[in-house]
Amino acid sequence: MNVRPSLLSLLVYVGFVLFTSAAIAETTITVEVHSDQPGATIHRNIYGQFMEHLGRGIYEGVWVGEDSKIPNKNGYRKDVVKALKALEVPLLRWPGGCFADEYHWRDGVGPRDQRPVTINTTWGGVSDDNAFGTHEFFELAEMLDAEVYINGNLGTGTPREMAAWLEYMTAEGESTLANLRRANGRDKPWKVDYFAIGNEAWGCGGTMTPDYYANLYKHYATFAKTPENNRPIMIASGGHTEQTEWTQTLLEQVPNTWSLRMNAISHHYYTLPTGDWDKHGRALAFGENEWFSTLKNTLRIEEFIKANIAIMDKLDPEKKVGFYVDEWGTWYDVEPGDNPGFLYQQNTIRDAVLTGMNLNIFHQYAERVQMTNIAQMVNVLQAMILTDKEKMLLTPTYHVFKMYIPFQDATAYPVSISGDKGYRFGEESIPGISASAAKSKDGKLWLALVNTHPSEAKSVSIATAGKLRTAKGQLLTSAAMDAHNTFDSPESVQPKEYKAKAKDGSLILDLPAKSVVVVELK
Ligand code: AHR
Repeated sequence: MNVRPSLLSLLVYVGFVLFTSAAIAETTITVEVHSDQPGATIHRNIYGQFMEHLGRGIYEGVWVGEDSKIPNKNGYRKDVVKALKALEVPLLRWPGGCFADEYHWRDGVGPRDQRPVTINTTWGGVSDDNAFGTHEFFELAEMLDAEVYINGNLGTGTPREMAAWLEYMTAEGESTLANLRRANGRDKPWKVDYFAIGNEAWGCGGTMTPDYYANLYKHYATFAKTPENNRPIMIASGGHTEQTEWTQTLLEQVPNTWSLRMNAISHHYYTLPTGDWDKHGRALAFGENEWFSTLKNTLRIEEFIKANIAIMDKLDPEKKVGFYVDEWGTWYDVEPGDNPGFLYQQNTIRDAVLTGMNLNIFHQYAERVQMTNIAQMVNVLQAMILTDKEKMLLTPTYHVFKMYIPFQDATAYPVSISGDKGYRFGEESIPGISASAAKSKDGKLWLALVNTHPSEAKSVSIATAGKLRTAKGQLLTSAAMDAHNTFDSPESVQPKEYKAKAKDGSLILDLPAKSVVVVELK
């Protein structure tokens, strides 16, 4: 007889307990922005892009040629250039990657119809008509108002070839190479902002040991001369993943003299869902196990950065040498039927969440990490933009890069996160929240938050020295773990306006599952 009321009260009680425990769990997360502790400047080149002669990254992705039916200006596709301008790309790295060590710059200058057709032996064995060369690269950088990072050929080039390319690009006065540049349509020398001697010397760049490469670095750098007012920041090819021996050897063996300067050491880290190069894991249709393992694997970048910085702090205490993560991002299995040498992959909300997590880490180490380049800009690996002939779409990764624009050249502020119980999957867990904060040049305070959990929303209370009244910015999220944009539905995943107001003196931000939020705090 009494069953019904007691069942009802039991249900009410259970519901109440569940409700209050959820509420307690959610609101106990606090992100504190230490706005009294300004840190390093977040160099805008942390938002650098990488474009290689690889698959449809350059040809079709950026360059279609003047005669193409795809709308273009001087051969550059208009839709892609417009999207890249909106992204405020600060830096472009070219021509590779592995391709750089097989690239001979003379193939890519002069009248296009007279340029040689070469085989891209690194990426798919396809023909390259060299229509996109030095002049085309600089013209693109000028259109985007981006700095340039040229990767020199150490693997199959000579010091003479490298020196000649630098002379071609930078010589001011009378020289055959400067005159050739003029004859090819460019009177003024270009500014070469960054120049690297080789790429992945441990692998595709020549399978070298750190000692051997350090000697070659000195050899080539000795002859990499440019006018005094146009000296590039020089980058040595470093290690990858957990390696630290490249950083150690280079700092021990390359003296920081005027002629040999080594201004930065590069490092590469790619995130694979499985961590296994034989079977990376899929870009789409993955389970929560690979959502979790991808995010767990990407977080390892912080240990690699820390380990290398620890060596740098010992051997370069004046912090003259930068640590550039000049290739990073996700690397999935190519879809069945795709050319395996083209590294084309789709891009989902998982990539967006991972991007926010990586950018938040880079901000934290901004004192040394003054440049990173996501791999790659268009149609290759974790791209900003995908194209299919005349069609184009912006990926979730593009949207995160755009949302984070206020962090370019901003001053980093430390954040501390308390009460985060983490995102648990099976026996393992990773932080449930990732955050970073900075003050932009115009004095605005910005906060970026990532909820790594694929199915649990979080409420985060924001604290800082002064009183906070509002948060205003953008939110990127979606229902499915592999939500992505397609050429038929290019706006399935896109940012929405996000606003929150303080109540009773506290500012609480609600983060949906698998979301990235970037807001200005007032
Ligand atoms: O980004 C693709 C390739 O990955 C690059 O060419 C190479 O440097 C790295 O192994």
